Amino acid sequence: MRTPVIAGNWKLFKKQGDAVALVEGLIPLVKDTVGVEIVVAPVFTSLSAVCEKISGTNINLSAQNCYWEEEGAFTGEIAPGMLADAGCSHVIIGHSERRQYFGETDETVNKKIKAALKGGLVAIFCIGETLAQREADSTFDVLRTQVTDGLAGITAAELAKIIIAYEPVWAIGTGKTASDDQAEEAHAFIRGLVTGLYDQGTADAIRILYGGSVKPENVKGLMSRPNIDGALVGGASLKADSFAGIVNFQK
Ligand code: 13P
Repeated sequence: MRTPVIAGNWKLFKKQGDAVALVEGLIPLVKDTVGVEIVVAPVFTSLSAVCEKISGTNINLSAQNCYWEEEGAFTGEIAPGMLADAGCSHVIIGHSERRQYFGETDETVNKKIKAALKGGLVAIFCIGETLAQREADSTFDVLRTQVTDGLAGITAAELAKIIIAYEPVWAIGTGKTASDDQAEEAHAFIRGLVTGLYDQGTADAIRILYGGSVKPENVKGLMSRPNIDGALVGGASLKADSFAGIVNFQK
């Protein structure tokens, strides 16, 4: 049985006061929710304030990015161990916006995942094809390369600390959700890749989240599919009621 994960990626939104207000609104709406791993990912400068608010609740804290070195002369970067120190249990790695705007590649994503695991964090490893890639029928090739290269050198035991997030780039922030069938097809393919790279037991255990215009209205359909184990939510995670509506998809 895979525990579902609902993670909110707040991206570059919410200063400290607004981040705290959001989480204060969220806590009572999800406090009775059991059997769902709830994660929020504020900007770096709000981590500590949000950490303080969610202490003792069922909400987990994630960062949105990290560097692969533990320390050193790397101005502007942040190490996984420092994120853990700030209260994070999770970190998002390789989001398509990082790949698109900040030059992240499968190779740097792989280094970051390894560093995150070493730093004691759960890595939320993002993959997904662009619209051009889908239209060129290369979705599966793209996913195969991203999964194979992103997980290079990572053991089956380490994979237990990794969550995969499938986010088709064309569905992010566009209001265009992948259909339940499209998402399930990609998720089943990704799980098959993990079976090939590792083994059936490892593939059966890994959580694969869907991301891209997830809302309270479409989460139930997605979550009813056998290979969809949760959601990585952008826009709809910025309001307590809509994020809670997704977290509480079973109700
Ligand atoms: P939206 O939910 O706004 O489409 O964003 C998805 C996303 O990128 C989450 O990481």
